Formats: sequence, C-alpha cells, structure tokens
Amino acid sequence: MATLALDPRLSTVTASFVNGKHSMLIDGQFVSAASGKTFPVYNPADGEVICEVPEAEAADADRAVRAARKAFDSGPWSKMTPSERSRMIWKLADLFEQHAEEFAELESLDNGKPVSVARVADVPLAVDLFRYMGGWSTKLLGNTIPLSAGLNFHAYTMREPIGVVAQIIPWNFPLLMAAWKLGPALATGCTVVLKLAEQTPLSGLRLAELIQEAGFPAGVVNILTGFGEGAGAPLAQHDLVDKVAFTGSTEVGKLIAKAATGNLKKVTLELGGKSPAIIFPDADMDVAIAGAASAVFFNQGQCCCAGSRLLAHDSVFDQVVEGVSNIAGRIRMGPGLDPATELGPLVSQEQFERVTGYIDSGTKQGAKIAAGGKRHTDRGYFVQPTVIKDVKPDMKVVEEEIFGPVVTAQSFSTDADLERLAAQANDTIYGLAASVWTRDISTAHKMARKIRAGTVWVNCHNVFDAALPFGGYKQSGWGREMGAEVLNNYTELKAVTIKL
Ligand code: NAI
Ligand code: MG
Repeated sequence: MATLALDPRLSTVTASFVNGKHSMLIDGQFVSAASGKTFPVYNPADGEVICEVPEAEAADADRAVRAARKAFDSGPWSKMTPSERSRMIWKLADLFEQHAEEFAELESLDNGKPVSVARVADVPLAVDLFRYMGGWSTKLLGNTIPLSAGLNFHAYTMREPIGVVAQIIPWNFPLLMAAWKLGPALATGCTVVLKLAEQTPLSGLRLAELIQEAGFPAGVVNILTGFGEGAGAPLAQHDLVDKVAFTGSTEVGKLIAKAATGNLKKVTLELGGKSPAIIFPDADMDVAIAGAASAVFFNQGQCCCAGSRLLAHDSVFDQVVEGVSNIAGRIRMGPGLDPATELGPLVSQEQFERVTGYIDSGTKQGAKIAAGGKRHTDRGYFVQPTVIKDVKPDMKVVEEEIFGPVVTAQSFSTDADLERLAAQANDTIYGLAASVWTRDISTAHKMARKIRAGTVWVNCHNVFDAALPFGGYKQSGWGREMGAEVLNNYTELKAVTIKL
C-alpha cells in the first residue's frame, strides 16, 4: 500500500504506525480479514484517507469468539491466580503510559479531538482505569450466609467470571471506551472479543500490540476492526458468547438486546442521553456559564452525557444564553493536531450531516440561533459551537440526541417548585446524566434525588473517575460501567450450600 502523506505534526513513531500494515488480533496472532477485505480510515480534519484496516465479517467474528471460548474454557488464563491477573493488567497500564503521547496523537488524528485534550483526559483516564480495575482481581469476594433452612448447613456465595464477552464500542472516546470495556473483563477473568468503531480503529489496534507485549495468553483479548452489521451483529448473536457489552446509539442498543435473546446472553448497554444542565439564580454565574459551555462543547459535543439541554432560571436566562454564546464565539476551532485547537471537527461526514441536519430542523421549526449554527471552513467535518434558543419542548432539537456541539436553551420560572422543574428536567426518554448549578446545598441534594439519571453532577459536569459507576436510567441503558458496580456485570454469582 502506498504511504500516504500524513499531518507533519505527527511524531515519526506515530506516522510510521499509521503508515504500517494494520492487522486484527485473533488468538494471539495479528491477522488480516479472512476475506482479505479492508476499508479506509479518514482524517476528520480534512476528509482524506489516512490508511486502510481489515474489514472483519462473520467468519472473523466466529474465529475470534472460538479463540476467546478456548482461552476461557481451557486456556492458561483461567488457571492464573488473581494476583497474576492484576500484575498483567498493571503491566499493560505501564506500557500504555510509556506510550501516552503516541496514543494522544493517534486519538486526535483518528477522532479529530484536540490533542491537548486527549493528553489530559482520554489517555490518562484510560491508563488509570486499567490500574483501578487491576486492583479488583484480588478482591472479588462472596459472603457466608446463615440459612433458616437449618443450622446444619454451611452456605456461601462466590463470584465467577461470566465467560466470553463480546464488546462493541463507539468512536467518541475510542481508547477510553476500550479501557472501560477491557478493564473489568480482564480483572474478573473473562475473555474478550472487542470490536472497535469503524470510524476510529487506530488507537485500539496500537493497544492490541501492547496487550501482546504485556503477555496476555492467546485468545484472552481479540480485537476486530469492521462495521456494525458485518462484524458487530455476528458477535451479538453468537451462541458461544456469554455476555455482550455495548456502547453506542439507543437504536443499535435495542438491536443488540434482540440479537442476544438467541442464547439469552447477558447484556449491558451504555446508550444515548439528552442531559440537562440546570442553572439556579443563586449559582456562581461565571462558573455556571463556563461549566454549561464546556458541558456541551467538550469533545465537540460527542458525549453520551453532554449537557445538551440548558435549563436556566428566567431571572438569569438572558445572561446565561449570552454568556454561553460568547464562549461559543471565542472557541478556537481547528485540526485536533494543532496544539492551539480547542474544538476539533466531528468524527465523520455522516455525523457532520446528522448534526447540521438537526440545526436546520431547529430553525425550520421556529427556533433561533443565538450563536454558531454553521459549518466552519469547507474542508473537514467542522461545525461551529451552537446555541439554540426560542425552542419548544416537542422540537426535535430538544427531544433527540444531537451528539454535536449544539445546546438548546430553555428557561424555568421563579414560581416553579422543584417538583415541576424536575419534571421538566426528566421530560426525556433518556436518563444518563444531569448537572445542577447552585450555591444552595439543599437545592443541590433535593435535585440530585429528583433527577432520574445515573449521574448527577453539582457545580461540575463531565467529571469521570474509574471508581465512579456510570450508566443510564430509562433508555440510556442497562447496567453500569466502572466503579465496583461494573464487576457485578462481568461476574456470575454462585451460591454453594453444604449439608454438614
Ligand atoms: P452506532 O450505535 O451505530 O455505533 C456504535 C457501535 O456499534 C460501532 O462499533 C458500530 O460498528 C456498532 N454497530 C452498529 N450497528 C450494529 C449492529 N447492528 N450490531 C452490532 N453492532 C453495531 O452509532 P453511530 O451510528 O456511530 O452514531 C449514531 C448516533 O448514536 C450518534 O449520533 C449518537 O447520537 C449515538 N451515539 C452514542 C454514543 C454513546 O456514547 N452513547 C456513542 C456513539 C454514538
Ligand atoms: Mg450507526
């Protein structure tokens, strides 16, 4: 394959990785797709092809699942002690950290996000996730349980790995999503087939090399590149898979849940959101306005928990809309690899069209653009940070996940009690997250109780930690990722009863 001209800002080590031949990891080997097919990867900053990667299909998915099955059922993995598993995960984290700058560059090139953000958010959070999860291998405990069935019983529970896990991830945080998925699976002793997002396969393929270097036995981690229907669907259906963990659209989440019914494999889903950022009049306005802007513009708005519905008290509404709009107007847009860039392009042409389509639907339905609203430059997939006001609750821009740097602003009234405000905040099919901006500690706690979402942030938004469980109420998903809670989603609980 011809070497393509890459952004000169890339380090030589990253450029040579991108220009190299890309292979998938199956059963401890780097391989092409069985069909030999490949597909292109695009640079979101200019729309040019940067490389080709293998296009996995059902045959490859099947090979990978069988390798994971063998590694789980009879491989050395299941015979390792918890402490040996911990150390291997920590070794991976160390290797990963040593190559942090390379991963930040890959993530920026592939997804479009600012390299400055990848350096301080995506990469260190992913490293930390592996460290945190590595510590859990030795702490998967059961209970002893006194039985009323009789005193001559001794009963206890134990946690066992769920088995072979298929993991399907999106493109918004390619590396971090891989870590959220792989970390708990490896800590609990599962084996994995991970399918990367077709838009952003590069950092996951580089991670595959480090997984090999760290010494994981063949078949424990298999990594596929391919499309949803071609490679994802066969994994979700596969009878030898014990669990499927998915992050992506609610629409595909429902398809995954259906596909899983064949063998009733366990399912966890981390899906869409339409999270409110709620600003009370007593908030520190500078903090709240800057916070509301970053709640939605962070990662070009391509966050499942983006604060995409701004709800501001009517006494501060104009000030908030003006403040967020001013910030939107000042944000520096450019290619992710430019160190000065604050907001990069969207990930793909498809996402560009989806987001600009939503902005158009808003104006057609009578909403007003307070800031942005247009494409930025005619190359690449850039959309200006956009604030939409004069919206009604039944407009598409208010109801549906846009997944771009677009926020709708609505006010709430002084006479609204918290009950009515919470109903407004909860008026969505989703329930992933919310932020509340106030100096009143009672308001903060009361709202935290009333909001039907898996995460409530107070005077902050988009704060993640490996120790904090994350996931959705309602149509935002099933189960939790991270924290101690995720371990329950990767283990089966066995009750053992002994008659003495
Ligand atoms: P998607 O849900 O189609 O893709 C996510 C992953 O699922 C990718 O790896 C894809 O290959 C795979 N996939 C797609 N169809 C599949 C199928 N039938 N069976 C198995 N796997 C399948 O999301 P897409 O199309 O990239 O984005 C569409 C919208 O979804 C976005 O605009 C956004 O609203 C939402 N989204 C939400 C994310 C989140 O973090 N919750 C992440 C990405 C997208
Ligand atoms: Mg899709």
